[in-house]
Amino acid sequence: MDLKPSNKFYVTTPIYYVNDVPHIGHAYTTIAADVLARYNRLQGKEVFFLTGTDEHGQKVEKAAQEKGKTPKEHADLLVDNFRSLWTRLNISNNAFIRTTDAEHIKTVQGLIQLLWDNGEIEKRQYSGWYCTPDERFWTEKDLVDGNCPDCGRAVEQIQEENYFFLMSKYQDRLIKYIEDDPSYILPETRRNEVLGFLKNNTLGDLCISRPKSRLSWGITFPFDDKFVTYVWFDALVNYFSATRYLAPHAERAGLGDFWWPADHHLVGKDILTTHAVYWSTMLMALKFPLPENIFAHGWWTVDGKKMSKSVGNVVDPNKIIEKYGVDAFRYFLFREVTFGLDGDFSEDALIKRINTDLANDLGNLLSRFLTMAEKYLGGIVEAPSENTSGNNPFAGGCINDMMSAIDDTNYGNWSNLRFNIILDHIWNIIRAANNHIAQTEPWKLANSDPAYLKNVLFNLWNALRLSAVSLYPFMPATAEKMWKQLGLQSLTDEAMNSRKDNGAPLIYHWEWSPSYPVKIAKGEQLFPRIDLKKEQNKEMEQKPTIAEDNLIPIEDFAKVKLKIGRVLQAERVPKSKKLIKLQVDTGEPRQIVAGIGHVYAPEDLIGKLIAVVANLKPAKLMGVESQGMLLAATDSEGVLSILVPEKNVKEGASIK
Ligand code: MSP
Repeated sequence: MDLKPSNKFYVTTPIYYVNDVPHIGHAYTTIAADVLARYNRLQGKEVFFLTGTDEHGQKVEKAAQEKGKTPKEHADLLVDNFRSLWTRLNISNNAFIRTTDAEHIKTVQGLIQLLWDNGEIEKRQYSGWYCTPDERFWTEKDLVDGNCPDCGRAVEQIQEENYFFLMSKYQDRLIKYIEDDPSYILPETRRNEVLGFLKNNTLGDLCISRPKSRLSWGITFPFDDKFVTYVWFDALVNYFSATRYLAPHAERAGLGDFWWPADHHLVGKDILTTHAVYWSTMLMALKFPLPENIFAHGWWTVDGKKMSKSVGNVVDPNKIIEKYGVDAFRYFLFREVTFGLDGDFSEDALIKRINTDLANDLGNLLSRFLTMAEKYLGGIVEAPSENTSGNNPFAGGCINDMMSAIDDTNYGNWSNLRFNIILDHIWNIIRAANNHIAQTEPWKLANSDPAYLKNVLFNLWNALRLSAVSLYPFMPATAEKMWKQLGLQSLTDEAMNSRKDNGAPLIYHWEWSPSYPVKIAKGEQLFPRIDLKKEQNKEMEQKPTIAEDNLIPIEDFAKVKLKIGRVLQAERVPKSKKLIKLQVDTGEPRQIVAGIGHVYAPEDLIGKLIAVVANLKPAKLMGVESQGMLLAATDSEGVLSILVPEKNVKEGASIK
């Protein structure tokens, strides 16, 4: 293949901390990169789509220690959580970088050496406030109430020698760079934030080493083996190092800087500063070109709440796709919220999107068309030879105009990552096609105007075909399914084969048609409707929710005194099937009457340790006084079990 810089597209995701369990936030960026990668491949570009894992640093070291593993063994196990999720989500990355790769390590060391040789790094005595969980130093004035401004946890003062990247001297150059290139940082609001930060603060130098005495799990400094590399310096370099050993054709000698710089670094808003400031200035110091664009997306909340492990509302994409399918999830993420803004995820909102947009608008259109094409045309769809009425679809908003909003040429919707606007335009076509059916009523034309009917059905076929092409980056499996049902062979192959001079594929045009006769092949429904009520009921059955109004404050619970007692004597209460009278030692002697005689025989209980409510007002049961209550569990099957302590504790032990 002829490698021309203009014909390549390089997109990255952040490399994820290998310790995290992948959640909706990780999936979001990775799917966004996949959407871009697939779009650009269809456009005939050679694509390098990179994702991976960030594997050094304190957190990984600590977690591995707790599990009795080396950090690398630990990372080897966890990395599969990401790999397998990406496979399931149909992610088409063509490389997966791990910062523990030998080639990456070599590149990081090479670049540090280069910066050191060029006087861009200095060794200094340093004293600062260190947040261990965040692995970050803070200055005195950064602290909030003496704690880490990021996570709020306690910080400790540390004094040590370290290596510093002289970042501060690039402050003015960076400001100018961002000002001169309005699309370097997107969206614009984030760009303004970064500019505001740079203009109102004095940029410090960046501590890029950690003494091995404090942290050993990292890349050793090339010229001082008492230090390892700061994890962010190591991580950011991945975008560059991968171009040298993981990118397509990387093995080709003399390829040089074919892949660098990247077209887009996609990141979440929380890691924009590290990219926009650290990475940009590192590249300036290395005299490498800067990426074309850094795009910071927003964060997802879940049912209106911040996602967090302690709240227990972390969305596992594996569960969502098991329930609703991969493409519905992929679609939802980009239709529901403008890429760049925060959004809220809820299953209700997802179900609504599936039912209205996917089942109703898109799925119904396809199945109605297929049914009519079978019934009226025997499944054979052809371009009409004669120009019957209404041949220009779909009156008013001509489809070729609608398509031009979807490809990048006219409005730059793709270069600016306006995913939801692109999807809106695709739905304009789908809606126009649905309206066309309502207006022309093809079932009536069968008798009155068969030539026009043929024409209408061809137009619907073509509109569906163009919808499939346009939807492909977002919902690749659905688009291929549509393509096949429309009687075509392979969307991606046909895109490749229909390119003129390596340009955009002709399958984007209304005028394209395959060289073979089209026989539609009705298949399964694309998106069956989901019954919201049924889903909610299922959920209620699965996890009985705790009714808020039944909750008691802890003070109320503290009023109940629970104790362990030993059963000294036991006998049945005369004339009762259930009641057994127990003499119990709970540190003091007491008599308890318990309704367990239908399950336990008195002699089974003697000598047993039991759990007792010790401060109940005495009550009479069938005339016998009970000074407390024995605790027993009953399940929904009616199985009853008294509660006994797992160890031999003393009589009178309190239960808390
Ligand atoms: N390892 C670093 C990145 C190094 S890149 C050179 C890192 N990893 S991470 O695993 O913690 O986070 C990865 C991404 O997940 C970030 O882009 C972050 O914004 C994103 N998200 C984490 N929670 C999120 C949401 N609730 N919503 C959307 N994205 C979120 O940071």
